[in-house]
Amino acid sequence: MCNGTREETSKNKSILEDYIATKMKMEPTTQLKAEHDSVKLALRILGVMCNRLESGQETKSKYIDELLQFLRVFADRFHHGKEEDILFRIMQEGTARDEGPIGEVMVCVAIMEHFVGRDYIKDIGEALAKYKSGDHRASARIIESSRNYIELLTQHIDKEDNILYPMADKHLSTEKQRKLAQEFETVNREKFGIDMQEEFYELLNNLKEVYLV
Ligand SMILES: [Fe+2]
Ligand SMILES: [Fe+2]
Repeated sequence: MCNGTREETSKNKSILEDYIATKMKMEPTTQLKAEHDSVKLALRILGVMCNRLESGQETKSKYIDELLQFLRVFADRFHHGKEEDILFRIMQEGTARDEGPIGEVMVCVAIMEHFVGRDYIKDIGEALAKYKSGDHRASARIIESSRNYIELLTQHIDKEDNILYPMADKHLSTEKQRKLAQEFETVNREKFGIDMQEEFYELLNNLKEVYLV
């Protein structure tokens, strides 16, 4: 029994390691799209958490905390960080302008949406603290801000996948794509590291088992 569990854990770990290694070899925008898949999964889990809270079913605060941690660190600092500090910066140096004023405006709007998302996450965190201290009326604020966040991020991801990333791929020179890939590699390996990515994929898989199966 113990052996079986250990085997299963190490099998899951090697699947995760392979996934991360494969993701890091992808083209920069393909890499970001793969990260969107994980963020979209987190949004689905958040949606189910809201439904359960609304219908009075038990939703452990611990799990909401874990999901918020994923959204703060993986979705925002890691993924949005790569967009703002690397991809969008390089696009603002020229690529976005190559599309005319619409390109530049779209990059600015995307950055602004990251800020709005941070406010929603802060709000959910504050409401959750109240909920944990026994104020169950705070669940209405958790639900409202979470649903606003889901709506914002869903359209944001759709816009990036279908307009902004293709715009970057169309205009970035091979040299700039190479620079982009190198800077992504530094964030993936040094700034955040493989262990952090592994921990968050594992956390998300565990929450998926609880909420989506
Ligand atoms: Fe974004
Ligand atoms: Fe994104």
